[in-house]
Amino acid sequence: MSKITIETIKAAKNTRKLVTITAYDALFARLIAPEADIVLVGDSLAMSFGGHNDTIAITLDEMIYHAKAVCRGASDSFVVFDMPFGSCANAKTALESAIRVYKETDASAVKIEGGVEKADVIKRLTTNAIAVMGHIGLTPQFARQSGGFRVQGKDEAAIAKLIDDAKAVEDAGAFAIVLEGVKANAVPRVVQSVKIPVIGIGASADCDGQVLVWSDLLGFFEAFKPKFVRRYLEGATLAKEAIAKFAADVRSGAFPSAAEFYI
Ligand code: KIV
Repeated sequence: MSKITIETIKAAKNTRKLVTITAYDALFARLIAPEADIVLVGDSLAMSFGGHNDTIAITLDEMIYHAKAVCRGASDSFVVFDMPFGSCANAKTALESAIRVYKETDASAVKIEGGVEKADVIKRLTTNAIAVMGHIGLTPQFARQSGGFRVQGKDEAAIAKLIDDAKAVEDAGAFAIVLEGVKANAVPRVVQSVKIPVIGIGASADCDGQVLVWSDLLGFFEAFKPKFVRRYLEGATLAKEAIAKFAADVRSGAFPSAAEFYI
C-alpha cells in the first residue's frame, strides 16, 4: 500500500474504516505496512518491549531510534510518531521535540495524548507545519496521575468531557484522533462530534477505524490480554515451540545437518 495523505485519511470518515497497527522496528514494519493505512510508532513499546508497567519511561531519543527503523521498513507508509511523556509538557518543548522528530525521522505526523489541556500544544505544532493526531479517552501517559488504566465515558459528565476533548483537538488542527478505552454507549456521540476520523482502541466498533498494538494482535505479548484485544496469531506459543525444537535439536545433534554447514 503506498503512502496515503492527510486528505485521504480525513476523507475516510463515514466512507471506509482506517487500519492502524503499531510497529517498533524495520522487521515488523515491513510485514505490517502492506495492510496498514497508518503505521504507529507507539510509546506502548515501553511496555511490550521495554518490560515497563507503563509508558512513562521511554525517552524521545529512544522513540526516535525506533521510528527511524520503522520508517526504513515502511518507507511507503504514513508513519505516526507517538510523542513520549514529557516531550510535550508545554507548547515550546513540544515544538522543539516535534521539530527533532521531523528532522531526524521520516515520520509523517506525531501523536499527542490529551484533550482540552493539550489544545494549545497541538495548535503550536499544527501552525508550524507539523501534522498532529490526537489521543483522548484513556491516555496511558496520565495513568499514574489518574490512578491507573481506567475505562472512560462512564457517565454524562465524562461523555461531555470526551466530546469537549475531541472538539478541542479538532479545533487545534489535528487530522485524526485515537479514542482509547471508552464505554460503547459514549463512542458514537464522540465520533459524531467531530469531522475528522476517530480511530478506536477498546472503543467499540463505532469508530472510523481501529488500532491495535502489533504484539497484542499477533499474540506475542503474554503479560496480560486486555478485553479489547483479538489475537490473530498465538505468536508467543508458536515462538516458544520453535525455540524448544531448536534447543532439542542442538542437544540431540540433529542440528545442523550436512545441508546446513560448509563442506
Ligand atoms: O502507544 C501506542 O501503541 C498507542 C496505541 C495504543 C494507540 O498509543
